[in-house]
Amino acid sequence: MDYLEITGGKKLSGTVTISGAKNAALPIIAATILSDKPVTLTNLPNVVDIRTLLKLLTMLGGKVDHENTVALIDNGSITSTKAVYEIVSQMRASILVLGPLLARFGECEVSLPGGCAIGQRPIDLHLKALEAMGAKIEIKSGYVHAMAPNGLIGTRIIFDKITVGGTENIVMAAALAKGTTTIINAAKEPEIVQLCEMIASAGVKIEGIGSSELTIEGTDGKALEFKNVEIIPDRIEAGTYLCAGAITDSTITLDKVNPNHIRASIDKLESMGCSFNIKEESITIYPAEKLKPVNLITIEYPGFPTDMQAQFMAVAARAEGESIIEERLFENRFMHVSELNRLGADIWLKGSIAAVKGVEAFNAADVMATDLRASSALVLAALVAEGTTNIRRIYHLDRGYDNLEGKLTALGADIRRKKEA
Ligand code: EPZ
Repeated sequence: MDYLEITGGKKLSGTVTISGAKNAALPIIAATILSDKPVTLTNLPNVVDIRTLLKLLTMLGGKVDHENTVALIDNGSITSTKAVYEIVSQMRASILVLGPLLARFGECEVSLPGGCAIGQRPIDLHLKALEAMGAKIEIKSGYVHAMAPNGLIGTRIIFDKITVGGTENIVMAAALAKGTTTIINAAKEPEIVQLCEMIASAGVKIEGIGSSELTIEGTDGKALEFKNVEIIPDRIEAGTYLCAGAITDSTITLDKVNPNHIRASIDKLESMGCSFNIKEESITIYPAEKLKPVNLITIEYPGFPTDMQAQFMAVAARAEGESIIEERLFENRFMHVSELNRLGADIWLKGSIAAVKGVEAFNAADVMATDLRASSALVLAALVAEGTTNIRRIYHLDRGYDNLEGKLTALGADIRRKKEA
């Protein structure tokens, strides 16, 4: 197994190019199932989760020609509608094939995703909404069996809770349904906006894109023909590099980024004393004279993202004073706390609230990555720890950060990937 060896204390400088967004690319790859014609996706990040979902398409019978950041996908040849446990258990986002498979083929079987490090993460809202659209759903032997032999029927869906994946699944299902689907309390993340725009550019009428109420007029079973899609920049990768600048007191520039998508992170870093030069597609972060503490609560977009909570905790742990961080989306997304404390942080945890007392220095230690964003928080802390930190289980990082050690090395960090002896 690979691990990362990071020697802290180096200042960073230069420009880092932000990759395409994993969480935009995944639903877009799933949406290609709505078409029986070839479609090209560009600016895909080079990360394991993307390869996993593309592999699932080939297992269903789709044709995928994938190299670097580009994939040509032809789902005209799909012969199976079963998403097997072997793949879904590797990546929960595989559940995103449920809506499009059911909409296009009238039936499918998708393995239940099972446990997750950051919380229970049920899919009840996806299933309830599909049932409201006329699907018959049964859970048998660990699989969701979904049937709608006469097609899905548009209806009014009110999500009890805002769900990114649930909104994506229902937008895709609604695209081929009969009649109009209205989604109330829809998620508004930029990834959902891009998915809606992709489907709308294939001729499906969608109103309310970017708002919490989406109205979608389905094609009554007619497969779509997509234009090429260029994946939007990864706002969480961008936010993570801003945190790298903040924690190492460095000036760095992010290129190929959409500043509008990371306002919440920029605002919080500004309140901590950092300053910015923001252009249309680039951001330069200048370090704070003294990092100030921050209070933040994770909430749905455009609020502060849960996917940036761990990285901000690492930065707050070096600020002068006490920060309060509340996690509202996932009940167990604090696994990085004990690992950050191993590096010398002073974080006290009670339920969904962490009190972070800033310390002057971190000390290198052996630590373990527990989930994707927790892993990047450990990398940030290691960049400023005195000595050499080893981070194990970095397969979590490889799922969602494109060439993390290459990009950090180019910025001047002392970071190496090593193989366990
Ligand atoms: C997406 O997960 C992202 N994943 C996550 O990013 C992100 O943390 C999350 O949205 C929140 O922003 C992808 O886009 C692939 P949700 P998703 O459904 O869709 C509850 C990362 O690090 N819920 O919006 O699974 C759920 O338990 C990942 O890149 C139900 O109760 O998140 C959670 O508390 C991790 N029932 C809340 O809603 C349901 O049926 C929000 O989850 C569905 C969700």
